[in-house]
This record gives sequence, structure tokens and C-alpha cells, in this order.
Amino acid sequence: MCGIIGYLGYRDAYPILINGLKKLEYRGYDSSGIAVFYENGYTLYKSKGKVNELKKKISSIQIKGTTGIGHTRWATHGGPDDVNAHPHVSNSNELILIHNGIIENYHAIKIILLKNGFTFKSKTDTEVLVNLIEFIKKKNKLSLEEAVRISLNEIVGAYSIAIVEKYHPERIVIAKLGSPLALGINEREFFIASDPIPFLDYTKNVIYLKDGEMAILRKGEELDLRKIVDNHKLSPIIQELQINLKEIEKGEYKYFMLKEIYEQPKTILDTLRGRLTDGLIWINGVESNKNIFINAKCITIVACGSSWNAGLIGEYLLEELARIPVEVEYASEFRYRNPILEKKDTIVIVISQSGETADTLSALKLAKKKGVFVFGICNVVGSSIARNVDAGAYTHAGPEIGVASTKAFTAQIAVLVLLALKIGKYRLSLTEYRYNHLCQEFGLIPEKVNRTLEMIENDIEKIAKAYYNVNNFLYLGRGINFPVALEGALKLKEISYIHAEGYPAAEMKHGPIALIDENMPVVIIATKKGCYEKIIGNIQEIKARKGKIISIVNEGDVQVSMLSDYVIKIPNISEELSPLLTVIPLQLLAYQIAFIRGENVDQPRNLAKSVTVE
Ligand code: F6R
Repeated sequence: MCGIIGYLGYRDAYPILINGLKKLEYRGYDSSGIAVFYENGYTLYKSKGKVNELKKKISSIQIKGTTGIGHTRWATHGGPDDVNAHPHVSNSNELILIHNGIIENYHAIKIILLKNGFTFKSKTDTEVLVNLIEFIKKKNKLSLEEAVRISLNEIVGAYSIAIVEKYHPERIVIAKLGSPLALGINEREFFIASDPIPFLDYTKNVIYLKDGEMAILRKGEELDLRKIVDNHKLSPIIQELQINLKEIEKGEYKYFMLKEIYEQPKTILDTLRGRLTDGLIWINGVESNKNIFINAKCITIVACGSSWNAGLIGEYLLEELARIPVEVEYASEFRYRNPILEKKDTIVIVISQSGETADTLSALKLAKKKGVFVFGICNVVGSSIARNVDAGAYTHAGPEIGVASTKAFTAQIAVLVLLALKIGKYRLSLTEYRYNHLCQEFGLIPEKVNRTLEMIENDIEKIAKAYYNVNNFLYLGRGINFPVALEGALKLKEISYIHAEGYPAAEMKHGPIALIDENMPVVIIATKKGCYEKIIGNIQEIKARKGKIISIVNEGDVQVSMLSDYVIKIPNISEELSPLLTVIPLQLLAYQIAFIRGENVDQPRNLAKSVTVE
């Protein structure tokens, strides 16, 4: 979490920093700060709260300088306040640092620094790092870059950093281990950011620093890229970005989340493009590892949050269509419990929108260490997870900016359907008829998502108005729609702060039924084929306890509709593909409720888009 930004060149740094921080707010937004450098000095401002608070604080001040760094924070060490906000300054006031990540051994280092007379204003690990660099620099009379390099070799943890020396504003030193860092390059200028979006207006040439690399940026000079461990000089690899600026603008929508919900017909189409044509499925990463997929005896899917929910849908799909046993694991649990992975027969699939989630990345590294083939499903091109897997498939959903995942989630499901069908075809585990039928229906999904959005809009608004004030919600589904119930509950909690739980519908009897009374809305996914009769039984049980039923049913449904307080109708589709439609009303319902409650939908409290701390 946390977003970092920097500029070194000939333009005024301040507007680049402040606008860049706005674009990085998805990474954290509890405090922010900037430092802009001029000859022999700098201007530093910090503020608690969102970047707009910082902007307000600075609004009447002229900030001049063509070198600068900035930071938007998601608090780890020390609360979200002005003192703990970045940039952090060393004791002598000469070194100014921004940092994304966690220094795990900061406490031990702090004790050494305290013994050597250093003092600390904040509770952060970052203030420890900037003073460690100062300590090593002064003691050994080193250049900034060499002091940074030696200090970083003492560090345990994760970081992307940028540091400037007060008396040398013509130079910024940056380094990366575990947290993302993109470097934009133009003639006579450098842009630093946690992802390339903040500098897209200026350049599309980007270098993604790899773990263990550092760079010295000097005004008017070539980039100097090195290995942190031994100072070995490296040749930079410059990539040209393919992002369209429209993709990162809200356009006519009030919130990115709403835009992203409505983009889904297109994003699913983009996910399928070139991969599903006339009943043929082509996924490069699968094609080139065909035998691994044919011979696999089990698959472990590892992810967090919504991506974990998508993984659970993947379990139903892969077991049903490819007949391979699948386990779905939370990355944070998997990585710490010495999982049993049979090198020869197992495939690990990691799923991540950002491709930077710390626990998922560590789980992937653990699996690779155990010699297991790891396949990645990622949205962000060039992200750490995408770079570290053996093979993979991008979701192609485009930049997802709303903190609550929507279009990336459906794109993940789309890739999992492709994967299950493809492996099923390899392994002859589904009939030719079923395969062809599902491929044909799959091709219709973008259009059906579009129709779903048209069909549900008015109903969702009514339901949101009726229930935006309740304290609890229950979401129920069976089979492949149970994970969709989990996802619906997750969406509601994270953006509206209403407590919500997702359950397998029949499991309700074993506990949650105790919660049901006339104040409890229960959202039930009751599509035709998914144990329809059983679901009707579950609805009766809820009604007997006066719970309110909001049902998601197929067009033409009669039985469930008659029993429901509110009905949301969606197009008919095969059960295997139904999550791609059933989740849409749940996303929109969460959005509408949060909107009516006046919450900041795109930036829910305490959350960040990219969870780069464990
Ligand atoms: C929920 C949400 C989070 C993420 C989770 C994993 O709407 O966005 O639960 O799904 O933090 O993130 P990624 O997919 O980037 O690994």
C-alpha cells in the first residue's frame, strides 16, 4: 500500500506531484505529503486525510522547484497523522525520503540509532530508514547512492523508495524490493511512481524496476541502474505503455466503481478476445504447457479478497468441467503453513487484480521454491506476480481504479471458465456437445451482461432505497453461486459499512438463521438450475421467520418471485456461466446503497486497492 511519486527534470514539480498523488490515492489515502527542492533547500508539506486536504493546505503558496517527491499513505507503523505522513527527514534535515513497504527489522535498527544519538519524531519505520542512511553516509563519508545501497543491504522487509539530498536537488536515488516502482523516461526528465498512470500524460516509456535494483537519476544525464547487493551496473529495459488515457478517467460517471460496473460487457469481451473463436479456446500460457495441464492431479488456487472468491468459483468450474480436484487457499494462510505440494502433479494458480498483493506474491514464491508450476491470472500488466509466474493469462479488464473490485472480478471468472473448458477439452472430461454448447453461450455473455445491466437498474434503485439504513444483510447462494453470495456480501461491507455475510443457502440452518427477523434483508441467488427446489425450501424457512427476501432469478421465473419481497430478473444462462450475470446486481446494489448513504464509494475507509503489506 501507499503510493509514491517523484519528478526530476525541467518542469515545475509541484503540479506533477499533486496530480500524481490523486491518481495514486487508490493505494492509500489517510495522509499525504510532498517535498519540492530548490538550490540548497526544500519546501515540505504534509497533511492528514486525503490528497485534497494537502492541496488545500498548499493552495495559497507558490512552490517552485523542478525536483520533488510525494507520498500518499496507508498507515502501518504509527497512526494516520501529519507527523507520521511522508516524506520523512533525517536528523540533520539533509536527507528526505518517501517509502512504500515495511521495514521489518526497523526496531533493532532504531535501537542502534538511538544509542548513536539519533532522535525520532514519528512512529514510522521510514524515519528509521532515512536516519540509517544518514548514519552510514556520515560515518563512512559516502555518496548518497552508496549510503543508500549499503543501508538497504541491512534491511529486512519490502520497499520502494525515493530519496533526495537537500544540497543536491539534481539527483534522486530510488530502489525497489517487494513493492512496485515504475520509472517514466523522457528526454531530460524522469518520473517516478508506484504505477505508471500518474505520468502517462508525459511519457509512455517506462522501466519497471526489478526487486533488488536501484537507480540514480541525475538531471540531464543517462539513467544509472544498479544491483543493490553488489553495485553491479545494469542495462535498463524500456517498455512502451499501451494504456489509453480514457480508461483512467471517470467520464460521465460519478464514481469509478459505477463506471467499472457498466464497463463489464466490454471488459469481458476484451478478456475473451483472441481466446474464444468459433468453439476454439486459445490461451498461450496453457497451450505452451499442455502436458502439465493434462497430467495435473490437483490444482491449488491461491488469492485474497475478491480474487479468492473468484478462485472459489474456479474450484467449481475446474472440478466440474476438467475433473481435477481443486483446493482454494487464502494466500496469507497458505504461505505460513508449510503446504504439501507434490512437485510433479500439482499446479498452483495465483489470482490477483493488482499483481502486487504481498501475501499472494509470497505464496507464489513459496510454491516456486517447492518446484511447483505456477500459473497466474493477473490484471495489471508487468506487475510483480505477472513477472514471477511460470505462465499465465492476463484478464485484460483495463485499469481498475475503484477500490472495490468489479470488472476485474468478472474478468477473472471469464479466464477461469476458459481455463476449465480448455483443460476439460484436453482431458476429455466433458462431452463434445457440452463443450460446444458452453463455448457458444460464453460468446453471448458480453451481450447478456449488457442486458442484465439494463434489466436491473430500476429494481436495484428501489431495493437500495428500501434497505440502505439496515444494520445487517445476509447473502445466500448454492453451488457455483455460493462464492457469488460471498462476493455480494464483501462488496456491501467494504463500501457501505453495513455488516453482511455470505453463506451457502442450506448452511443457514446451522447458525445464521438465528439472526433472521423482520429487519434482516436476505439476498438469495435463485437461478433456475442451481438446486432451485432446495432454494425454495430455504426461502420458506426465512419467510417463516419474517426475513425479507430479495431474490435474483432468471427471466420467466414464477415460483421464487412469488415468495419474494423484491425480485431482480436476469437473462437465462447455463449454470456454469451464471456467476458472470448473478454478481452484476450484487455489485450495483452495494454501489447504490453506499451512494445513498453518502459514502465515498471509490475510497472506502481503511482500505487500499493494492495490499502490499502482509
Ligand atoms: C475487494 C477487493 C479486495 C481485493 C484483494 C486482493 O473488492 O478489491 O478484496 O480483491 O485485496 O487484491 P488483488 O486481486 O489485487 O490481489
